[in-house]
Amino acid sequence: MSIENENQFKKMLEIGSIVANCLEYLKAEAKEGITTLELDHLAEKFLAKYGAVSAPRSVYNFPGFVCFSHEREVAHGLPSAKVLRKGDLLNIDVSASKDGYFADNGESFVVGNVKNKKRVLCQHVKTALELALNVARTGTKINRVGLAVEQYAKKHNLTLIRDLGGHGVGQALHEEPEFIGSFCDPRDNRTFTENTVVAIEPFLSNGAHYINESDDGWTLFHDRFYSVQKEHTVMVRSDKPFIFTRPTMSFVS
Ligand code: CO
Ligand code: CO
Repeated sequence: MSIENENQFKKMLEIGSIVANCLEYLKAEAKEGITTLELDHLAEKFLAKYGAVSAPRSVYNFPGFVCFSHEREVAHGLPSAKVLRKGDLLNIDVSASKDGYFADNGESFVVGNVKNKKRVLCQHVKTALELALNVARTGTKINRVGLAVEQYAKKHNLTLIRDLGGHGVGQALHEEPEFIGSFCDPRDNRTFTENTVVAIEPFLSNGAHYINESDDGWTLFHDRFYSVQKEHTVMVRSDKPFIFTRPTMSFVS
């Protein structure tokens, strides 16, 4: 969607902070010994408390409230009874709607903040998102986002996942512009327009280029390599994009 008035901006800011706070809350609770099913119950209660509705569940009938992708899972992982251990890689992706407005954010992190190679990957994707946001401006080509991520990946000897990417968001979970990749497609002539709401989400890996689909019909994974993502919902401007998914609450882990 394109933000056309103050009310739409306020509504996006409201749902943006709810999903950002929910993500912060789940990150704080994602400690050794808990299961992602238990985390999903916490998410359900949190979203309900703030009047928000899980987007994957309401839009796609996803069997959970939040996507939890564990270890070599890349995206759309299901909440499960698997117990988290220190040093595990986990991606939590929270998207929800309130009053018809949708926001989407996600982050990969290492349980227990253990210093391992997975944590280094998580730090790389945070930087890649910052670089991607830096080039998302009114009038610039959408493929500049992918170019920034691709160049960063090459420089650090990382690969990027080609079949996952960002997207327009706001009045639906996925809307125009469709597919904002982590690589530069030179044939893509689309440009960013003023006040457009997009979810920017680079996917980096230590070796994977494409993902596999699991038999459960949801989980996207790679059997050998680790992949990471970080995502914000933003509004494109002539300056740096405005980030809707900034947390306004802090949680002690
Ligand atoms: Co997401
Ligand atoms: Co998204």
